[in-house]
Amino acid sequence: MGLPYRLFVRPGMKFIDSEKAHDLSVNVLAKFGQNRGSQKILSSIYRTPSIPINVFGKLFRHPLGLAAGFDKSATALSAWPALGFSWVEYGGITRYPQDGNPKPRMFRSDNDLALINRMGFNNPGALAVRDQCISRRVSGKWPQVPVAANIGRSKSVDNNRAPNDYAETFSLLYEHADLFVLNVSSPNTPGLRELQEDDHIRDVVSACIRVRESNSGVKPIVLKFSPDLDDDVLLSCAGAALSAGIDGFIATNTTISRPVPSNTRSRNIFAESGGLSGRPLHSQSIQKIGLLYDSVGDKVPIIGCGGIEDAESAWSAITNGASLLQLYSAMVFQGPSVVPRTIKGIKKKLNENGFKDLEEAVGFSR
Ligand code: FNR
Repeated sequence: MGLPYRLFVRPGMKFIDSEKAHDLSVNVLAKFGQNRGSQKILSSIYRTPSIPINVFGKLFRHPLGLAAGFDKSATALSAWPALGFSWVEYGGITRYPQDGNPKPRMFRSDNDLALINRMGFNNPGALAVRDQCISRRVSGKWPQVPVAANIGRSKSVDNNRAPNDYAETFSLLYEHADLFVLNVSSPNTPGLRELQEDDHIRDVVSACIRVRESNSGVKPIVLKFSPDLDDDVLLSCAGAALSAGIDGFIATNTTISRPVPSNTRSRNIFAESGGLSGRPLHSQSIQKIGLLYDSVGDKVPIIGCGGIEDAESAWSAITNGASLLQLYSAMVFQGPSVVPRTIKGIKKKLNENGFKDLEEAVGFSR
C-alpha cells in the first residue's frame, strides 16, 4: 500500500460510510485531478512503467485499466491516467437518469478485502453524460488514453425493449468513447442478468451493431459476463454474441455468491444483498477467463476483471487468457499505488519467464 494513502487517506476512510468515502475520492479527483499541474504531481508519485500491448487495434501503454462503477458519471476522466491507469471505463450509464437503490448500498469487508454493492446504476443518464463529455472535449481535458463506456439497461425498461434502450445510449455516447461495454451482468437491476440468454444477447448486440454501421469508424463493442453463469450458458451466450458481431468479452462482473466469512463483521457484511467484488471473487473470475479463452480466445480478446490486486493475481488473469485487465476493489483497499506496483510486478514476471512481450504470456498456462 502506498505510504501517503496508508498514512493519510485509509485511516480516515475507515470511519466513513463506504459510498461517502468513494464519492469523496472521486470528487477530489474530479476537481484536483483535471489540471495539468496536479496531473504531473500525481504521475510522479504513481510512476508506472510501460508494457505495451495492442488490443482492438489500439495501443495500450500497459494492460491495467479502471473498472466500471468507479467513475460512474465520467467526472474525473483525466485523473485516472495520472494515477497510472493505461485506460479507463466510465459508467454504467443508462438511457434515462436513475437514483439507484436506497442507501446504504455499498459495504466493505476490510478483513476479507471484499466489497458488496447494490448501487443499481445510479447515474445522470446518457444525455447528461454526453453533454459533460462534450464540455470536457471542448475544454481540452479529454484523457490521452483509451476510454470505454459501460452501458446498462434502464430500470424502467423491460428486457424485451432492452435492445433499443442499449442502442439509444450507445448512439448518444458513440463519439465519447473508444470502446463500449454492454453490461448484462450487474446483479442490482431486477431482471438484467436474464439478458444473458442467446436470443436476448443476439438482439442487444445486433441493435448496437446497427447503430455502429450508421456511424463513422468501427468502435469495438464487448460484452461483460457474470461469474455466476453456468459454463455451458456462458459459452452459448458467447457464441450468440460472436455470431451477432461482438468484438470481445469482459470476465467478470460481481458475484451474488458469498465466501465463508473470516470474522463476525464480514459475516454481517456478506449477509447484505448485492454483488461481491475483490479478493474472494478472483478464483471465479479466473475460471471464466480460462473458459472463454479456451473456446473463443482465438477469435476475440478477453478482458480480465475480478480480484486483481497485485502482480500475482494479474499474472494469473493474463496467463489464463486476459489481454487487458481492470480493477476496482483493490483501489479501495490499497489506493492508487496498486497500479504501479502491479505493473512493475508483471514486468518482472515477463523477464523471469523469458517472454519478449505481454502478448506471448496471454493464455500461456492454458
Ligand atoms: C461495480 N461494477 C460495475 N460493473 C459494471 O459493469 N457496471 C457498473 O455500473 C458497475 N458498478 C459497480 C459499482 C461498485 C460500487 C462496484 C464495487 C463494482 C463491477 C466492477 O466493474 C468489477 O467488475 C467488479 O468490481 C470486479 O472487479 P474488482 O472490484 O474485484 O477489481
